[in-house]
Amino acid sequence: MAMTTKAPTTTTEDDITNEALRRFEGTPDPRLREIMLSLTRHLHAFVKEVQLTEAEWFEGIKFLTAAGQKCDDIRQEFILLSDTMGVSMVVDLINHRKPAGATESTVFGPFHRAGAPVLPMGGHIATDDAKGVPCVVFGKVVDTDGRPVNNALLDVWQANSDGFYDSQLENPEQLRMRGFFRTGADGTYWFRTTRPVHYPIPTDGPVGRMLQATNRHPNRPAHVHFVVSADGYEPVTTHVFDSIDPYLKSDAVFGVKDSLIVDFQQHTPGDELGRKFGMDTPFVTAEYDFVLKSTK
Ligand code: BEZ
Ligand code: FE
Repeated sequence: MAMTTKAPTTTTEDDITNEALRRFEGTPDPRLREIMLSLTRHLHAFVKEVQLTEAEWFEGIKFLTAAGQKCDDIRQEFILLSDTMGVSMVVDLINHRKPAGATESTVFGPFHRAGAPVLPMGGHIATDDAKGVPCVVFGKVVDTDGRPVNNALLDVWQANSDGFYDSQLENPEQLRMRGFFRTGADGTYWFRTTRPVHYPIPTDGPVGRMLQATNRHPNRPAHVHFVVSADGYEPVTTHVFDSIDPYLKSDAVFGVKDSLIVDFQQHTPGDELGRKFGMDTPFVTAEYDFVLKSTK
């Protein structure tokens, strides 16, 4: 019996893409299936679009390996990577569409830590930051009808006046520049701190090398971080930004939204707010009302 010889076929890039897609077709979880198919399509398209060389592919592998190796309990290089690629803010926008008037969210960032002290209203989160400009942050937590939210929790953190978070300082285990505050029935809050300053995100890792190689600066405009939560309301992760900051338009992590920018005001101990807050030196204030969306 004569043997039929099959003409050899050439495997193309698209054959591999289609075969990889076919292998994910049977993923039982429909959402995981959608994600894996889309990721495969986009990843293969990227490789084909730029005609990735083997050397470049290996640089990518080395970059991701270095990012993983840079991570530990207090350093999260992959969050930095996501933030600096703009991915965190796209995820934020998709997931936190707010009704008009509700406080907008922004990046969580890698510097939040558990275990900050619960402070009384008027408490000082920057007692170690002697050379910073004294600052009072105050306002209300209200619902979208303007009614005060009782028992709202404000989780606050920021960098010191040198632009460093506590985990970046000597004795990184010590918690500094952070605290929790709880509103009463009138929804008001106030606390003491130092005026936030702009600062560079950590650049001593692969993300820093990526920013340098792409001619991007690493700076974030001055801000105070908040997570504001209360029973019956959607929590909001956000910042309050200083309106005079030169990096508002070029935040390294794309986190600025107009509604989060505040004009800080100059005060003296003898003026109305100086007396109200019991200040004994010149200081600045940032007033911001947080508007929470009900979960009902
Ligand atoms: C921050 O604001 O703490 C931050 C956010 C994203 C990346 C790095 C730092
Ligand atoms: Fe920050």
